[in-house]
Amino acid sequence: MVQSSFAERLRAAMEDRGLKQVDLLRVAEERGRKLGKSQISQYVSGKTIPRPDMLSFLADVLGTTEQWLMGDDAEQDKPSVPVEQSTPREVSTMRRFDKSNKLDNVSYDVRGPALDEAMRMEEDGIHILKLNIGNPAPFGFRTPDEVVQDMASQLRHTEGYSDSRGLFAARKAIMQYDQLKHIPNVTMNDIYTGNGVSDLINMVMQAMIETGDEILVPSPDYPLWTACVTLAGGKAVHYLCDEQADWMPDLDDMRSKVTSNTKAIVIINPNNPTGALYPREVLEEIVQIAREHQLILLSDEIYDRLVMDDEEHVSIASLAPDLFCITFNGLSKSHMIAGWRIGWISISGNKRIGRGLMEGINMMSNMRLCSNVPAQSIVQTALGGHQSVKGYVVPGGRVRNQRDFVYERLCAIDGVSVVKPKAAFYIFPRLDPEKFHITDDEQFQLDLLQDKKVLIVPGKGFNWMTPGYFRIVFLPRRAILGEALDKLEEFLRYYRQ
Ligand SMILES: Cc1ncc(COP(=O)(O)O)c(C=O)c1O
Repeated sequence: MVQSSFAERLRAAMEDRGLKQVDLLRVAEERGRKLGKSQISQYVSGKTIPRPDMLSFLADVLGTTEQWLMGDDAEQDKPSVPVEQSTPREVSTMRRFDKSNKLDNVSYDVRGPALDEAMRMEEDGIHILKLNIGNPAPFGFRTPDEVVQDMASQLRHTEGYSDSRGLFAARKAIMQYDQLKHIPNVTMNDIYTGNGVSDLINMVMQAMIETGDEILVPSPDYPLWTACVTLAGGKAVHYLCDEQADWMPDLDDMRSKVTSNTKAIVIINPNNPTGALYPREVLEEIVQIAREHQLILLSDEIYDRLVMDDEEHVSIASLAPDLFCITFNGLSKSHMIAGWRIGWISISGNKRIGRGLMEGINMMSNMRLCSNVPAQSIVQTALGGHQSVKGYVVPGGRVRNQRDFVYERLCAIDGVSVVKPKAAFYIFPRLDPEKFHITDDEQFQLDLLQDKKVLIVPGKGFNWMTPGYFRIVFLPRRAILGEALDKLEEFLRYYRQ
């Protein structure tokens, strides 16, 4: 308690003074005080409180009192940071700026507090094995040369804004891609490029959702979906995906969650975090539910080119020509250009019933002028011709080898069970509740990080509420994955909650 209130006050005082940890380190050095990086970050994170001499130094630098920093003034109704000391008085009366209350119920924890702790540890020179983010480039997955060359040669021609929907050539290539995937009646005006699928999820949710609208979102999900529904004033109602059925959507559960306020069903296929790929029959049943209740279908298919085991990806929009569908796709994962920011939506099916919504999407698109034009300029190159990504997912390919390796290693750990992913580069194991008694996912994440320097994302980060699940990203090379799994195995030998 004392630590956390001290840490809060320390952070507030630092913020008021515009001082960062490095500034305190610098002042300490100037004044000949011994203050280490890890020491200050432990104070800031609430892990420990300083000894009296350090407390007095901090109070002095921050222009406050030791008592205030320690929270000893609780009963006195003082301003947030007392100013009797050396620094300017106006600081305590300064207006404070909080995050908007629109964000109150929004959570996006894939990059949450454990990541801060990992960064702190890295600042202290500790090497962390990161299995937490699906960003291919840092793991040696390189963008195909042709794509890089084509972007370079077009840079001079992509300096201005483009049409707000996107360049003609990019949209034509997307339209042809949709034709190959049998997505019906997508015209050039039904395609919008965006700065990644992320940008478009937000844009469509803002255009579509009225306060109180319910959107059916999978659990577990890619949490941006839940966050954007909530930010737009809607209610994300989670339908379960069933581990016992290879993480397929539980159709009874989905059906039972439809109410008169439900507007749309979101599917993520192939799925993050489970790596599941939905077969045609399951998709047909989802279409049927949407049809019965007149719902919009929103399908996130960003991993559709990362499918393994000779399976075929079926686009749900191809099965629903009579419904209003929006398919989300992009090049971040298939072309290893997550940093270039390019994705798109294709509106298909019965567009007559969604004219108003299309007007809204168009307004939102115009408001942001256009998406990153250099990245649009390589869509045609990327989607046409040879698909180098295939080399990663065929037998002997790197993604597939790493998937098999991680799967086999996890299966061999006592108390761990896991469904073999069929696509993408994620796996979502379960820890036996009888053995490990996990009740707090985030604590598990933190304990694994602190004990073994391995960073994963717990199930809760994906709106999966049963504790004891976590996601591993299997993008790192096999040797690194092996090292991380050795550590996980050692950890699970003794770890219990
Ligand atoms: C299912 C899913 N959708 C969308 C995104 C965001 O992709 P983009 O880089 O296109 O914004 C991700 C990223 O991890 C994802 O996993």
